Amino acid sequence: MAGASGSAGGSEWWRDAVVYQIYPRSFQDSDGDGIGDLRGAIARLDHLEWLGVDAIWLSPIYPSPLADSGYDVADHAAIDPVYGSLADFDELIARAHARGLRVLLDLVASHTSIEHPWFREHPDWYVWADGGPPNNWRAAWGGPAWSRDARSGRWYLHSFYPEQPDLDWRNPDARAAIGSVIRVWRERGVDGFRVDAVQQLMKDRELRDERPARAPFPLPLHPELAALEGVRSRTDPEITIALDALREAAGDAVLVGEVYVPSPALGPYLERLDLAFAFEFLHAPWEAAAMRRAIAAAAPLERVAWVLSNHDFPRLATRLGDRAARAAAVLLLTLPGAAFIYQGDEIGMPDGPEGDPPIDRAGRDRHRNPMQWSPEPLGGFTTAEPWLPPIDPERRSVDEQRRRPDSLLHLYRRLIELRRGLRAGVELLDSSPGLLAYRRGEHAVAVNLGERDARTPVSGEVVLATEPTDGAALRPGGAIVVRRTAS
Ligand code: GLC
Repeated sequence: MAGASGSAGGSEWWRDAVVYQIYPRSFQDSDGDGIGDLRGAIARLDHLEWLGVDAIWLSPIYPSPLADSGYDVADHAAIDPVYGSLADFDELIARAHARGLRVLLDLVASHTSIEHPWFREHPDWYVWADGGPPNNWRAAWGGPAWSRDARSGRWYLHSFYPEQPDLDWRNPDARAAIGSVIRVWRERGVDGFRVDAVQQLMKDRELRDERPARAPFPLPLHPELAALEGVRSRTDPEITIALDALREAAGDAVLVGEVYVPSPALGPYLERLDLAFAFEFLHAPWEAAAMRRAIAAAAPLERVAWVLSNHDFPRLATRLGDRAARAAAVLLLTLPGAAFIYQGDEIGMPDGPEGDPPIDRAGRDRHRNPMQWSPEPLGGFTTAEPWLPPIDPERRSVDEQRRRPDSLLHLYRRLIELRRGLRAGVELLDSSPGLLAYRRGEHAVAVNLGERDARTPVSGEVVLATEPTDGAALRPGGAIVVRRTAS
């Protein structure tokens, strides 16, 4: 059932959709508590409609003790009151749909919060061992993947923080429980799910030790995990059991997998999921040859979700600088397939200050600071003390960039419009070192990722440029899109 889904009613709207990731806590506060919420998101739908995106993905909005900023869910079928009510949620869906925007939720299915009632009421839905850790598996941020439950004296598995016990996806009742969650939200009108940590859903049946890694893992990993092969504590071949259950419950709702594996390994996942993020593309160094390899590995899969940043990793503007962040927008939005934009990247928000004390133990506060809407000290995000400090709203904001046609924000908008006219498929072109170029039908794109001026191998009418150019040469950090002229 490749490509499974979405075709009912002929709508595979997600295939080349632009999806905007809202990090709800930091998007817009509406009630003056310093924390973003659903009514805040409703109030900002104008921005998303103006930008031209097709869909929003909301990072978790469920009740949570916040050991992992909401990725530790204590009730998958409710809204945390700090974000609003189910009525607010219904209104968000209705208002988004009225503007032609689809809504995706974050489905955290591999684990729950340790405070989820399931952990006590249905301990058999989790993975346990007696007498101590049964193997050498490590958790995502280091340390053993097993902790002792003081109440029962038994050991439970947690691929992430100890507050996030892993569900046992081999247990049909646990699968059914997540299936019901999916159905609950579908009935409320959601259009799909970004599925968290898919590679982690299914583990080795016998919980055998991981062997030492034989080759470096091509994506960043905590060194303790990178030292292991990673084929038993994650990426188990029986993953299809889990994926089938997800697909059955999801019907034709889109399923976007956060599958943290290299692109060539995404094939089996894409037999059941509609899209999967291209993490090699996100993590490749900003060098033409590396980006070209990442594109060449992912593009043939056809159902990749291109992504250059999210709430887990350093921000684009920090990694690349302001100029190259413009070129990165061109790259992200002119490849064939779906593209995901992380809130704030459209105005070039860099990494910001951490909470004091830091909130995320893995150091990810810096990628999650409040959205900067207007050039005031609190950026129009809130009227109270924000849960994380603002970065530089007086320098960088949506309002200021809306007024400036040469801004990054306008560039994102123009690109989103332009991509609708790009033909399917991509042909990577030979070009001088430092330059990445490809053809999309009658359009061609060139991006200079190098440190020197470079001649472009593409010619035609320049339909978009990140900076003034004659179309023949590009400065470092420059990018153009051209359309072939009749010859
Ligand atoms: C995903 C989320 C990340 C979270 C982890 C555990 O990778 O993106 O924020 O910490 O899963 O749920």
